[in-house]
Amino acid sequence: MCGIVGYVGYRDALGVVVDALRRMEYRGYDSAGVAILDGAGSISVERRAGRLANLEAELAEAGTAFAGTTGMGHTRWATHGAPTDRNAHPHRDTTGKVAVVHNGIIENFVPLRRELEDAGVELSSDTDTEVTVHLVSRAYESGPTAGDFVGSALTVLRRLEGAFTLVFTHADHPGTIVAARRSTPLVVGVGKNEMFIASDVTAFIEHTREAVELGQDQAVVITADGYTVTDFHGGADVPTRPFTIDWDLAAAEKGGHDYFMLKEIEEQPVGVADTLIGHFAGGRIVLDEQRLADQELREFDKVFVVACGSSYHAGLLAKYAIEHWTRLPVEVELASEFRYRDPVLDRSTLVVAISQSGETADTLEAVRHAKEQKARVLAICNTNGAQIPRESDAVLYTRTGPEIGVASTKAFLAQITANYLVGLALAQARGTKYPDEVAREFGELEAMPRLVERVLASAENVRAIARQFAHERTVLFLGRHVGYPVALEGALKLKELAYMHAEGFAAGELKHGPIALIEDGLPVIVVMPSPKGRAVLHSKLLSNIREIQARGARTIVIAEEGDDTVRPFADHLIEIPVAPTLYQPLLSTVPLQIFAAEVAQARGYDIDKPRNLAKSVTVE
Ligand code: M6R
Repeated sequence: MCGIVGYVGYRDALGVVVDALRRMEYRGYDSAGVAILDGAGSISVERRAGRLANLEAELAEAGTAFAGTTGMGHTRWATHGAPTDRNAHPHRDTTGKVAVVHNGIIENFVPLRRELEDAGVELSSDTDTEVTVHLVSRAYESGPTAGDFVGSALTVLRRLEGAFTLVFTHADHPGTIVAARRSTPLVVGVGKNEMFIASDVTAFIEHTREAVELGQDQAVVITADGYTVTDFHGGADVPTRPFTIDWDLAAAEKGGHDYFMLKEIEEQPVGVADTLIGHFAGGRIVLDEQRLADQELREFDKVFVVACGSSYHAGLLAKYAIEHWTRLPVEVELASEFRYRDPVLDRSTLVVAISQSGETADTLEAVRHAKEQKARVLAICNTNGAQIPRESDAVLYTRTGPEIGVASTKAFLAQITANYLVGLALAQARGTKYPDEVAREFGELEAMPRLVERVLASAENVRAIARQFAHERTVLFLGRHVGYPVALEGALKLKELAYMHAEGFAAGELKHGPIALIEDGLPVIVVMPSPKGRAVLHSKLLSNIREIQARGARTIVIAEEGDDTVRPFADHLIEIPVAPTLYQPLLSTVPLQIFAAEVAQARGYDIDKPRNLAKSVTVE
């Protein structure tokens, strides 16, 4: 979702800002813009619909007009108003002196817009954002905050409803940027004689690894010399969290791959291994950051898992593990549906909120709802200090580094791994597994990264198969038991990357309707269970394959090495190493990621930035 950057320092602000916007492209956007202060009382603004390259082409023609050492930039993912030049940010007031960029939604923009129009202000866009810049301008012109840029911004912030990160600049105050956040992200980058603010640290990691995380309803004023954080009333006694970014620029760059997604697929063994590190010591599962005492883990009588998209599919897998190991009932909910159906929650409910970004608005609202109902919330998150872990009672971080590609890959495998850790911690505390059983499970998990490496080593076979199916209209995915969420995830990857119609089904449901879709030549990808671990399901799925082959389907079968019974039914076979049933999704998902990426590339699509999608979905 929208990416924001602001810079005050000694460098050419335009270069810093455009580089930062490029790094934040992965968040998803449909227009981009910059504002640079010249230090002599004016602001130059350029903004363009479409890719950043469109904006850069305009800037190249503008020559030296954008010289200055204070500036800000924005990549917009449209909510209010079409993705056009006039709706792109930054927006300016009618004097051209004040500029703003915004992420989020100003929910009370309609009455604010009416108030401005009644006062004779002509607005020039369809956005909710624009009202804020006119309001700051008017507060600066007259009244108690006349001539006070920071005071004017704070006055306006107090009037706003909704979710927002806002950044204001004023041409008569070069060298000062005022920014604020409520429910959407904003971090400060602390350099030497230069300061940054941004939606995420990738924007400034090239220049500094020292950062400060802002809390809810906080404003920050940055100058080249430092920063001051206050609440919206100017009160300075507010909690912030300084931190050092523990990954470097290389981690956020492509490392020799054409796409971040391909690099991130390769990084999966390390991501799974790193997520496990340090979580088994003294013969026990240890979840230090979890902040939930064994006593509490014993007292839960129900678990809800809430998440969106791929994280939801990871959540579906949590159900199999947690119920199997603990006998606790687990419900898995789409976060966007959760709070609207009045779920039964109380103090003895554990809600596990899974989010790579930790920013997803639907999941955040589900967390808030759960907390209002007195449930305890454990976040599984890949982004240190993001809003969801901040608002949760406890957090277990996946440690797979920044995920830049919009399609979730390494975060998905790390989330599955973290789910298993939560399941084992619950089983350990509740005594539903003996210590030696917990130790054995952890040992099996520790072996998984090596097996994921073996799947990656046979990627070329998957790519060759994928190329043969690159121009199909529809692909179906079938699975049973833990293979079912994998089928859903495989279909999601193909939809979002290749824009191809894809559906995942529980294979047992075929005969209840979906089998009507099978026609001559239709590609169907089947995720087979282990013939040893799940013999009954294996034979049932073999029957399902026969049923669809009889109706003309072409089958691509993902099966365990040595599973010879499946060979006669596989038009194409993708083998994965033998693994315990619950852990098989860590392997069977990987070929589906590779398949989708290859199909999308064969169709000529940008797999890092699929159309219409944003990496962090910060609106409901
Ligand atoms: O950051 P989150 O894990 O909360 O994001 C949830 C979904 O938006 C995300 O998984 C999305 O479905 C991905 N594009 C899937 O590849």
